[in-house]
Amino acid sequence: MVREIVQIGDEVLRKQCEPVTRFDGELATLLDDMKETLKKAEGAGLAAPQVGVPIRAVLVDVPEGFFEFINPVFVWQKGEQVGTEGCLSVRGKCGRVRRPNKVKIVYRDRYGDRYSVVAHGWFARAICHELDHLDGKLYTDIAEDLRNDD
Ligand code: CO
Repeated sequence: MVREIVQIGDEVLRKQCEPVTRFDGELATLLDDMKETLKKAEGAGLAAPQVGVPIRAVLVDVPEGFFEFINPVFVWQKGEQVGTEGCLSVRGKCGRVRRPNKVKIVYRDRYGDRYSVVAHGWFARAICHELDHLDGKLYTDIAEDLRNDD
């Protein structure tokens, strides 16, 4: 089921999200709904707080694949890149953001199994953007030149 994407100004986007503790059917439904919502919106990523659920779960949809990251934590971040980002919760805007160029995270999947992934370039950027959502941060907080996306 497609869910409504919360827009900037809603306090849920500013919450410190809680870790997922139950890898159950409720989580699976949320993730399935988030995937449908993300595909329909044609975004590169979506965090649970963006559909009003302040828990530590994000989706990333990049050329490397489609990923569900539950309770993701950075192991390391390296290098630097500057590039343009947008956000499904900040419609019609984009801006240049400085991010690490390469990151490693550990995370769990929807069943609670533990994995890690190393990402670089756009994939690393998407991970950084989505993980920021879990700490109540938006790219607009750090964008160098927030502007209309046209
Ligand atoms: Co976003």
